[in-house]
Amino acid sequence: MIPIENATPAEVSIRRIAVGDVASFHRCLDTVAREGRYLAMLEAPPLDQVSDFVAEGRKHGIVQFVAVAADRVVGWCDVSPIRWVGFRHSGNLGMGLLSEFRRRGIGRRLLDATLTESRRQGITRVQLEVFVSNRAAVAFYEKHGFNHEGLKRNARELDGGSEDMACMVRFLSPGGAPSGR
Ligand SMILES: CC(C)(COP(=O)(O)OP(=O)(O)OC[C@H]1O[C@@H](n2cnc3c(N)ncnc32)[C@H](O)[C@@H]1OP(=O)(O)O)[C@@H](O)C(=O)NCCC(=O)NCCS
Repeated sequence: MIPIENATPAEVSIRRIAVGDVASFHRCLDTVAREGRYLAMLEAPPLDQVSDFVAEGRKHGIVQFVAVAADRVVGWCDVSPIRWVGFRHSGNLGMGLLSEFRRRGIGRRLLDATLTESRRQGITRVQLEVFVSNRAAVAFYEKHGFNHEGLKRNARELDGGSEDMACMVRFLSPGGAPSGR
């Protein structure tokens, strides 16, 4: 059997998350979190919490896409709408890919699918926070139309060091193609 990390881009599909993906999504999230450099969490929450997040997501309009190779989740992108009155046009974006699937255009495909669906659901402001040290992700978001709108200084203190986080935003034009490219 060919190892899945050798999957060609055409063999990696992008689709809405399904209930049956939860265990695989949890493993993927945990693997990226344990790299310790990219996500705010250092390990995935327990499986039942991730399962609830996916189930709640379906109920509350969280836009959740996954990248799948040979039935295994290798990446995700989600936008969680803010539920407060007055803020419902905004959503928080999170994403990640297993290391062996990075820099093959899969992040771009995940982002495109997630933003297109977010816009369809009426979200016009997509915001995120990213460690300034995560140069790949900052470059990725800049390339895809996100603008810097602030800096959270000393946002994380860990192992004797501290890290700043950049706040970034991209506006989506209602009813049109995602804008800001
Ligand atoms: C950020 C991430 C999702 C990007 O996905 P990806 O599939 O690797 O990105 P793509 O292949 O679609 O890259 C598109 C563009 O992003 C930029 N980019 C991506 N990785 C980069 C890197 N290592 N260095 C510099 N630029 C990079 C480039 O502009 C690239 O275009 P190019 O390949 O034509 O130069 C991925 O690197 C990742 O999962 N990182 C770890 C988890 C993470 O950081 N999540 C975000 C937390 S806020």
